[in-house]
Amino acid sequence: MKLVVFIILTLIPLSIYSDTTHFGSENCAQCHQKQYEYWKKTAHFNAENSLTDVQKKEAKCYSCHKPDSSDVGVSCESCHGDGKYYAKSYVMKDKELAKKLGLKSITKNSCSKCHNKYSLHGSEKDPKKESVCTK
Ligand code: HEC
Ligand code: HEC
Ligand code: HEC
Ligand code: HEC
Repeated sequence: MKLVVFIILTLIPLSIYSDTTHFGSENCAQCHQKQYEYWKKTAHFNAENSLTDVQKKEAKCYSCHKPDSSDVGVSCESCHGDGKYYAKSYVMKDKELAKKLGLKSITKNSCSKCHNKYSLHGSEKDPKKESVCTK
């Protein structure tokens, strides 16, 4: 009995954590209008529209084409990390604090979780060579 209670108590905070740390691309736009407008013209914004209605029901396809169920396509946070805790001006101005609260540094690995030669149809991408949300 004690063990069951212990397991339930440890699982509840975990599930709340994973469901509510997403902030939403539209909300990032409040402060990053320029990046948002740019991103809306990219394949990432449109990634779920490449799928047919049948494919949209396949979790496998969504894992790269719409990884955040409450957001659009390959969202801001697919690359920058879940934003609920860092998406505040005073946090974002302090880069170290922002990183501690979830802002991820962008490296080749940020892209290769979806773009790699072993994925279904991937080509490798280098963040230094491609514009994804800025000119
Ligand atoms: C309330 C306003 C606000 C919101 C909301 C916000 N940001 Fe920011 N963001 C800022 C400010 C201010 C800076 C710092 C700009 C500077 O120092 O030049 C910043 C900087 C950044 C940077 C650059 C960090 C660096 O290392 O240079 C990234 C990336 C970023 N924001 C992404 C996001 C994402 C993704 C979201 C949504 C999850 C978001 N921001 C939401 C205000 C905001
Ligand atoms: C591992 C990540 C990943 C998975 C899983 C994935 N895709 Fe993709 N998909 C990509 C990437 C990345 C591209 C862009 C092609 C490239 O690498 O330049 C792409 C491109 C596409 C395109 C081409 C869009 C265009 O403009 O021509 C279609 C269609 C597509 N995917 C359908 C699917 C379907 C259907 C599934 C599920 C069976 C799926 N994808 C699963 C990563 C993935
Ligand atoms: C496919 C990955 C990806 C997506 C999606 C993405 N970004 Fe970025 N973002 C980057 C990369 C790469 C940089 C270049 C800087 C770096 O290397 O850290 C960057 C830089 C930034 C910066 C720093 C200032 C600048 O313009 O260089 C801000 C702010 C930012 N992104 C906000 C956003 C917002 C808001 C969204 C969604 C509307 C978004 N990003 C979507 C990868 C991404
Ligand atoms: C969550 C998965 C995911 C991540 C992370 C991601 N991408 Fe993508 N990317 C995609 C998908 C899916 C597509 C194809 C969208 C479509 O056309 O349906 C794509 C398309 C692209 C395209 C257009 C490719 C073409 O052939 O038209 C470029 C360029 C690109 N990504 C660059 C990047 C870079 C650079 C990074 C890292 C900073 C990155 N991506 C991170 C999933 C991802």
